[in-house]
Amino acid sequence: MRRVVCPGSFDPITNGHLDIIARACSLFDEVVIAVLVNQTKSSLFTVEERIEMIKEVTTRYTNVKVDSWSGLLVDYCRTNKIPTIVKGLRAVSDFDYELQMSQVNLQLQGVETLFMSTAPSHSFLSSSLVKELAHYGGDVSTMVPASINAALKLRVGGK
Ligand code: PNS
Repeated sequence: MRRVVCPGSFDPITNGHLDIIARACSLFDEVVIAVLVNQTKSSLFTVEERIEMIKEVTTRYTNVKVDSWSGLLVDYCRTNKIPTIVKGLRAVSDFDYELQMSQVNLQLQGVETLFMSTAPSHSFLSSSLVKELAHYGGDVSTMVPASINAALKLRVGGK
C-alpha cells in the first residue's frame, strides 16, 4: 500500500491545498492530511476546527485520512509508517526552505519528499493571504471552498 502524508497548518485549507491533495489521491493508495500543530504560531482556527473543515471538503476522496500531530513531521512519519511526504511548490521562493526541510527530513529518518508544482492558477495562493484578504473584507470565494469561505466570514467578517 503506497501511503503519503500531506502536511501543513491548513489554517484554513485552500483550493491550492486541495489541488495537491486531489492529484496525490490519484497517485497514492492513501493520502494522510496531517495538521501540524505549531505552538509558536497563533492560528485563526483551532486544530479541531481545521480537521473538521478538511474532512468536509475532502469527502469525495475515498483514500483521504485526516489527522493532527504536535512535533516533528518525521516522527509522525515513523510512528505511522509513512515513508513519503508530498508538498506543493508554488514558486521559486518556496524552494529554498522546502529543499532545506526535505534534506533534513531525509537525513533524520530517511523520509522522502516529493514536490508537485502547484497549478498556475493557484501559484499566488496561501492561507495567510486568504486570511488577510478575508480580514479586510476581500472576496476569497475563488480561493477556498464555499464552506471555508462561510467559516472565514463567521470568524473574521468580510463579503
Ligand atoms: O502550511 P505550512 O505552515 O507551510 O506547513 C509547514 C509544515 C507544518 C509542514 C512544517 O513547518 C513542518 O513540517 N512542521 C513540523 C515540525 C517539523 O518537522 N519541523 C522540522 C522541519 S525540517
